[in-house]
Amino acid sequence: MGGRVWFTGLAVAGLMMGADVTSPPSVTFSKDVLPILQRNCQECHRPNNIAPMSFLSYESTRPWAKAMKAAVLSRKMPPWFADSQYGHFSNDRSLRQSDIDTIVKWADSGAPQGDPKDAPPPLQWPPNGWTTKPDLVLNGMPYTVPPQPKNNVIEWMTLVTPTGFTKDTWVTSVEIKPSELGVTHHICISFVPHRPNARYNTLLWVDKQRDEEGVEVAPAERKFARPTADGKGIEVARRERNNSPRPGSGTGSALN
Ligand code: HEC
Repeated sequence: MGGRVWFTGLAVAGLMMGADVTSPPSVTFSKDVLPILQRNCQECHRPNNIAPMSFLSYESTRPWAKAMKAAVLSRKMPPWFADSQYGHFSNDRSLRQSDIDTIVKWADSGAPQGDPKDAPPPLQWPPNGWTTKPDLVLNGMPYTVPPQPKNNVIEWMTLVTPTGFTKDTWVTSVEIKPSELGVTHHICISFVPHRPNARYNTLLWVDKQRDEEGVEVAPAERKFARPTADGKGIEVARRERNNSPRPGSGTGSALN
């Protein structure tokens, strides 16, 4: 009997030593990284979407581990350009510091998969590249993107698409889905009430004056109204607005 008691004691001591020397639980793809990717990255990083590679599976994500570390540390990814000093946006995409730390630790420790059983169930994305489940789909107009536009600038085009609504309708969300995400830079949308002279379903080229390098040159006489409290607005020349346009960016065009 005495021998048995001694043996048990040894086993317990051994276990405790084991616990002492074990390194902190390692960060794995299945348990720690995938939930972050589901929340913050897969919206774009999945097949048929805007980002060039998919982060749905371990196999497709693993080669990007080092690049992911660099992209989240520099906050290049997820893309989020709003300046936080102007308040908080409910759809702020920025990662929490703890998520950044997790991705960094994972990349630094050889980007292990871990046990696939630890993985959360895959997210169910609506088919055909939508992020929302649209009740109504309005089709735009086809446009052929030139392979080498002058100065690498393609001018703005406006398109007015009739909604078809026949009565006041509460729209809870709008999603724009270009068919060719690889050549889409950005799109601005606004709601315009029906006007008798509206030209629907016609791509209208917005003509701009540009210099040799493609930088927009605003005619000196062009005036814009800056809103004022009395609602009358003050006229300002475009150059005073301090938002000089950059090639290809279309900055300021939303004013037209
Ligand atoms: C809103 C869409 C969007 C989201 C959300 C997003 N990405 Fe990206 N990501 C892109 C696009 C688009 C590119 C390609 C950029 C390019 O070609 O310049 C890209 C490129 C990358 C690259 C390639 C290297 C680089 O720096 O360009 C890495 C790595 C990356 N993303 C990681 C992530 C991670 C990690 C997340 C989530 C924490 C994330 N992205 C979330 C759109 C997104």
